[in-house]
Amino acid sequence: MSALDVSAFPRDFAWGAATAAYQIEGGWNMEGKGPSIWDTFCHAKGKVFEDQTGDVACNSYQLWQEDLKCVQRLGLSHHRLSMSWSRLLPDGTTSHVNLKGVEYYNKVIDDLIACNVTPMVTLYHFDLPQALQDCGGWKSTEIADIFESYARFCFQTYGDRVKLWTTLNEPYICAKLGHEDGIFAPGIKEPGTSAYLAGHNMLRAHTKAWHCYNSHFRHLQGGKVSLNLNTDWAEPLDPGCLQDVAATERYMAFSLGWFACPVFCTGDYPESMRAKIEAGSLELGYGPRLPRFSKDEPSPLGTADFFALNYYTTRKVKDLKGACKSGELSFIRDQSAEAVIDPSWPISGVHWLAVVPDGLRKLLKHINDTYTSLPIYITESGFSQIGPVQIEDDDRCHFYQKTLQEVGKAVSQDGVNVKGYFAWSLLDNFEWADGFSVRFGLFHVDFSTPELKRTIYRSGREYAAVISKHRTQT
Ligand code: NOJ
Repeated sequence: MSALDVSAFPRDFAWGAATAAYQIEGGWNMEGKGPSIWDTFCHAKGKVFEDQTGDVACNSYQLWQEDLKCVQRLGLSHHRLSMSWSRLLPDGTTSHVNLKGVEYYNKVIDDLIACNVTPMVTLYHFDLPQALQDCGGWKSTEIADIFESYARFCFQTYGDRVKLWTTLNEPYICAKLGHEDGIFAPGIKEPGTSAYLAGHNMLRAHTKAWHCYNSHFRHLQGGKVSLNLNTDWAEPLDPGCLQDVAATERYMAFSLGWFACPVFCTGDYPESMRAKIEAGSLELGYGPRLPRFSKDEPSPLGTADFFALNYYTTRKVKDLKGACKSGELSFIRDQSAEAVIDPSWPISGVHWLAVVPDGLRKLLKHINDTYTSLPIYITESGFSQIGPVQIEDDDRCHFYQKTLQEVGKAVSQDGVNVKGYFAWSLLDNFEWADGFSVRFGLFHVDFSTPELKRTIYRSGREYAAVISKHRTQT
């Protein structure tokens, strides 16, 4: 990464790394923590690679001081973490607060601030309290108010020190993989229906949490609140084919637009998305499946103070007209687009992660042109490793060098207001359904040793050098 021109990044650029509670903390039932849907999902057999679980993970619940050393070794200005809802509120509601959980995050936040590292806190990163799932989870209407109370509790408890909040991480993944494909917790496999309802309640929950902050905390605490949206960048497989161009627009509408349009553009879902879903419902004899935002509740429009983007990869899209079996109801059918990987793109470890750094630059410009001129934080971007551990991870170094170069161009040549970059991830960790077989860390964690030893990868060393170069040159 030494060739990277750091002068493209503004002086106050946030250099960060990110983690998520379930992926690193372990201590799944320690000191009063209630179970989450990921505890339940992993404990059921056959859901996760080799039936692995996050019961211990990186044991960050007990080894936070080791993580802090990693943060310091990188010289990060910012660190993104998530809070485990059921560690704080074991049954998901404020009727019972787990003081040990409160203490844990107080320590994490205080330690970061003492080291001059600004925390960015995500309230929800896939781990719903199981007690709330038992009452319908994201498919229940009540969840939005319950989330608002949880958010209020966190703002009240930590908002004197935390100034950057995100409510929900990747509602798209949570809705689609958790409520349509069934490959993420809570494991619901209901093609074409539940994902839209779950996604809708997530947006309602986010909206209420943002309004709660805006009305009760902003003037006292002066922080900012957003939500982390993920999307691939998409391009038509055949740019000369009008159907592929339209399918690409639909692909973007069904991924980014689904959540970004209500929050940043119109207060409602993209028209193309609603039209496609309604046409499919009609044809297959279903009632309306994409909910409407009620006039009696606050609108999602305007409920973000910055744009938080998780970007990993790019796809080429082709129109899928007629390719679904008749009578089949699914997200893909609604979208009628197939997304493929260009064979010339290198693959980073895990099969879905084609490395396309300039996709990020195009996506940043697209967000700036289409959705908002608010500052953008890239809250996740990373490269995975599978198979034998390579501490000298040259391909990951190359990935970060190229990716950061593209971010620099988005800032200096396209005029996009990118405020920060958070590498995913600080540590190798529990990669959801892939367990520990996929490693995204800047630090290797040796899961075979009881002390879960952290060792910096070459990419970690080089990322640290970039940060320090930027600090000394600007
Ligand atoms: C995005 C998710 O937020 C994170 O939890 C996950 O580990 C990475 N993608 C890599 O798949």
